[in-house]
Amino acid sequence: MSSERQLKPSGSPSLSADRGTEADDHDTTDARAVIRFDDVSVTYRGGVQALRNVDLRVDDGEFVVVVGLSGAGKSTLLRALNGLVPATSGSITIDGTEVVGAGAAELRVIRSQIGMIFQTFNLVHRTSVLNNVLMGRLSAVPAWRSTLGLWPSAEREAALQALERVGIVEKAYVRASNLSGGQQQRVGIARALAQEPAVMLADEPVAALDPVTSRQVMGDLLRINREMGITTLVNLHFLDLAREFGRRLVGLRDGEVVFDGDISDVTDDTFQEIYGRAITDDDLLTVDAEPAG
Ligand SMILES: Nc1ncnc2c1ncn2[C@@H]1O[C@H](COP(=O)(O)OP(=O)(O)OP(=O)(O)O)[C@@H](O)[C@H]1O
Ligand SMILES: [Mg+2]
Repeated sequence: MSSERQLKPSGSPSLSADRGTEADDHDTTDARAVIRFDDVSVTYRGGVQALRNVDLRVDDGEFVVVVGLSGAGKSTLLRALNGLVPATSGSITIDGTEVVGAGAAELRVIRSQIGMIFQTFNLVHRTSVLNNVLMGRLSAVPAWRSTLGLWPSAEREAALQALERVGIVEKAYVRASNLSGGQQQRVGIARALAQEPAVMLADEPVAALDPVTSRQVMGDLLRINREMGITTLVNLHFLDLAREFGRRLVGLRDGEVVFDGDISDVTDDTFQEIYGRAITDDDLLTVDAEPAG
């Protein structure tokens, strides 16, 4: 079933500079591959095959947007990467470490290298913004310190710096529940940053936000990727947002990678192929209020 798997445009030599000068995205050398899926399939109990023979390689510092219809397997891709969902077959590595078949202790190490950003932010609402960000440092300090709230000053400093990166350091001592949605997502990003992760994974990070805030948060993610070189994978369902912020686009359809290429090669037809249907206003974050005709 591998015919027609890649809709990848032929002869697309002008990939953006951040992907390296010899931009052969299926280069066989492994030197810079931070994420690698080799022939990965995931079948859930009950029989749904959520990923089918996925091959994907993401190099150090890349910013990749993943799109696909609801149910296409976007979340499964991220969950397989952090070992939350076991791959049924194939190999997944992060920075060379195999995720598939890893034991609990190994998974803890792997997950400490992955900053996760969630659609619903996953903050602890009744505590301060700073404490939420410090959660990102949990694996870096002895448990008794974090339990007693006796964070070393260097840890507090690191957390404050992460808040500064996302422009809300002045909210450090505010209760998380008192922030707006966009501010809460920035705390989520700061918490992930505080981990000093090798990889940032964001599963529909702006789905709960309004259009203006969505763009700001996507802008934060892209800026952090640029400034700090953290390899980033973002699942999005708004195609205009994917086009605006994506650099490399991966399209999933029914568990298969059906597109993998530079965003500048993406046309409306590409999105239609990925979705297997015409694109509607619901697929766009911002719908122009132009009168028809
Ligand atoms: N825990 C689970 N058990 C069984 N089937 C699952 C489970 N999680 C996901 N699935 C199924 O696997 C397929 C892929 O789901 P997944 O959540 O990865 O899609 P998605 O692209 O993230 O969709 P959405 O855009 O709605 O978030 C779907 O058919 C879904 O119903
Ligand atoms: Mg999902």
